[in-house]
Amino acid sequence: MTGKDPIYLPYGRQLIDEDDIQAVAEVLRGDWLTTGPMVKKFEDRLRDVTGSCYALSCSSGTAALHLACMALGIGAGDRVIVPAISFVATANAPLFCGADVLFSDIDPASGLMRAQDIRDLMANLSPDEMRSIKAVIPVNLLGEVAEIEEIAAIANEQGWKIIIDSCHALGSIYRDRQGGSHLVGDCHFADMEVFSFHPVKTIAMGEGGAVTCNDRDVYDRLALLRNHGLERNPQNLRVAPETPAPWYYEMQLLGYNYRQSDIHAALGFSQLGKLSSFIEKRHLLTAKYDRLFGGLSDHIRPVPAVPGCRATRHLYVVLIDFPALGIPRHDFVGRLAARNIGSQVHYIPIHTQPFYVDKYGPLSRPGAEDYYARALSLPLHVSMSEDDVACVVAQISDIVRGQA
Ligand SMILES: Cc1ncc(COP(=O)(O)O)c(C=O)c1O
Repeated sequence: MTGKDPIYLPYGRQLIDEDDIQAVAEVLRGDWLTTGPMVKKFEDRLRDVTGSCYALSCSSGTAALHLACMALGIGAGDRVIVPAISFVATANAPLFCGADVLFSDIDPASGLMRAQDIRDLMANLSPDEMRSIKAVIPVNLLGEVAEIEEIAAIANEQGWKIIIDSCHALGSIYRDRQGGSHLVGDCHFADMEVFSFHPVKTIAMGEGGAVTCNDRDVYDRLALLRNHGLERNPQNLRVAPETPAPWYYEMQLLGYNYRQSDIHAALGFSQLGKLSSFIEKRHLLTAKYDRLFGGLSDHIRPVPAVPGCRATRHLYVVLIDFPALGIPRHDFVGRLAARNIGSQVHYIPIHTQPFYVDKYGPLSRPGAEDYYARALSLPLHVSMSEDDVACVVAQISDIVRGQA
């Protein structure tokens, strides 16, 4: 893209090559369309790239969150801590199970939930509310890693389970306090991690998600829940006939159809093969943005990298003081769109959504509200060039200098 190019640059999109199309076409010519050998291949590769013992793919990131909550046995009367800044699915999943959520505030500079935010939340809870907390869901927002070790320390002390929402963070790496290196998804500090493969994420599957974990029992439970709670393995049948018939199955849990299809898995498997190059490209584009935004304007600051984390950024977010610039955000977005540049806001604080205001009343989470007031996601996807980044920043520079 150049400044004169009429081609619209969206804030996010997939990159599908001919070999991805071939991989899907091959499945379409074969015998398995629903869950089959490609799903297994995808899961094996995902396990390898996350460093987890088990990976279970499913129909979406939302399904993955729901499966993870169900696998922990979260239900009515339980509460789960979630950050006020995330996609709504993070908060909705515990509600699907009949539980309630407690919204933690976040760091207005990064959008991430910190250990201190959880401590502040706990300080205002009654003993009954404290007793009802079963889990916490930190979100690795934008691909950066939350204060996961510190949050895990609180969770372990309190006896809570941890599901990390890593929907943005496939390919990110971080160091723990001992200097050990961890791949996002290795579940070193969590019971489970969840991923989304929606087209704007690091790899695209159309729709798709996954849960990683290191515990065989958790994995088996996830697998049952993904497929209607149906068990076919003769060794695991509860009321087994003496010689189980080949058609025999038992419904052991109330599960769902959250299965992944081989069609989607073929695309996901092909895309995972390019993960290293996708990661490198995202690093390159992010570094270019960071360099070009340095010193551009005191009123525009990129969300900084978390120390010790080499993030594969899913989103490139700048925090803009719109009142100080004298340009309201909707105007700024409109001026970018007029220059063929897409942008988006991630996210509206979940506690301010009408559904949650009706449910829990008006809540104040100042860090989240401050972050939301300033956040703007700029184009970041692997089909972009470094020149596209330079063009986006040049156009923003023009807008800031009043030339729009
Ligand atoms: C942080 C986060 N969690 C969960 C989800 C849900 O994923 P999916 O759209 O695959 O259901 C998303 C997707 O946008 C997300 O960004």
